[in-house]
Amino acid sequence: MSESCRFPPDFVWGTATAALQIEGATDLDGRGPSIWDDFCRRFPERIHERSHPEVACDHYHRWAEDVGWMKRLGHSGYRFSLSWPRLLPQGKGAVNQAGLDFYDRLVDGLLEQGIAPNVTLYHWDLPLDLQSWENPEILQAWLEYAELCFRHFGDRVKLWSTLNEPGWSTMHGYLTGLHPPCQRDPRRAMQVTHNLLWAHSRAVALYHRIWGRPEPGLGIGIALNLSPVHPASDSPQDADAARLADGLLNRWFLEPVLLGRYPEEVLEFLRACGSAPHGDLDFAEPVSSGASEGGSIPTVDWLGVNYYLPHHATADAPTTDFHLNISGDPQEASRFSIQGLFRFVQNPRGRYTDWNWEVDPDSLHEILLRIRDLRRLPVYVTENGIGLPDRLCEGQVEDSSRIAYVTGHLRAVHRAMQEGVDVRGYYMWSLMDNFSWLNGYRKRYGLLYVDRQTLQRTPKRSASWFAELARTGVLQVQEPASPS
Ligand code: BG6
Repeated sequence: MSESCRFPPDFVWGTATAALQIEGATDLDGRGPSIWDDFCRRFPERIHERSHPEVACDHYHRWAEDVGWMKRLGHSGYRFSLSWPRLLPQGKGAVNQAGLDFYDRLVDGLLEQGIAPNVTLYHWDLPLDLQSWENPEILQAWLEYAELCFRHFGDRVKLWSTLNEPGWSTMHGYLTGLHPPCQRDPRRAMQVTHNLLWAHSRAVALYHRIWGRPEPGLGIGIALNLSPVHPASDSPQDADAARLADGLLNRWFLEPVLLGRYPEEVLEFLRACGSAPHGDLDFAEPVSSGASEGGSIPTVDWLGVNYYLPHHATADAPTTDFHLNISGDPQEASRFSIQGLFRFVQNPRGRYTDWNWEVDPDSLHEILLRIRDLRRLPVYVTENGIGLPDRLCEGQVEDSSRIAYVTGHLRAVHRAMQEGVDVRGYYMWSLMDNFSWLNGYRKRYGLLYVDRQTLQRTPKRSASWFAELARTGVLQVQEPASPS
């Protein structure tokens, strides 16, 4: 049995990357340090094989070759992030001309090849001088940075997102302490989520003030990590635990972004445990000063969905305990447990990668429908992909599991589109194997295999498959579409 799913002719096909994960050149041409450079230097033992992003894929020097690959791989769009410390080495103040020049070359090179840039302002590489999203000066610095980018690139870049995954970066930066700035404090974590969402909403207002309201499908959005949370059992306790986890991880971000307010039920819970953030919590209220000059703070023009895996929650959470499998040894279990609230457990019927990430395309379909039911707006899948320990054998990388993974997830996207979700494009994570944060370089996500010694790019089997898909817009599904 086979089935084919036809996507619209103007559907955007592309890949996504992030500055710190691919650029390298971290000490070159006036770039300032970021909190991640500092973290990798101070705590090398916390990263798999003590890897660091100093060279990464050397995209800073090889960008033209990489744009050439995108063209060959059928891209009509490419999502990447600007490095705040490359543009403003101290986070604010003096602008680094070499940084502007680099991104000018990249943006112009993409446009020459007919590839539409989709630019993220912030993908976790906070300038070190700014230290933390708790810093009271950060909103001002952020708006200065956003304005620089919108004014300088906005004539050519028509798709922007403010933040990449504020949920994931706050969770690991301020709750589990696994990412910089390595804090473990739920109250502070919730305050940071608010500071980020507030910064996001101000940047959206600023963009609209400078460039006006865009055509549908363009303009400014945000990339949220969204993972449905399912109860681990039929018990009412697990249902409550899943609802709470979903509220904190999904609704807490989705509702301010789409509806301009926090979910009341989650806010009530946070107030009861003394963890509600301070500040103006009503995003829809008129603003008397700052970027939006009166009127209500606008919500996004489009939503970016980063989807990798679902969660399964139980109320049985006797301790607080966090651990991430960063080795790719399937025996090394990840743990996420908040004492007395919820704990994530494995799905006994689930299929898992070597890093213990469950493969479940139906949950992508579920999240897309939830978005539709909250607010009808253009959606892009801004990240989706699978990390594998790919190997280069005689010049070939056989990654049929990646093809199966993307097939399953695109089929879910197609189904959601037929059910009324306005999905405009799909950016696979990632163009090439890159610095996978704590996982170092062993966990490979690319269509292009990157040799760690020579940095040579070699297209994997998935690359020619993806190019053909982008060329035809038709996804061929062979039953059963099951990743091994
Ligand atoms: C997303 C991030 O969380 O997932 C990417 O936006 C990241 O930057 C991707 O690389 C995959 O996660 P990981 O930890 O496996 O690299």
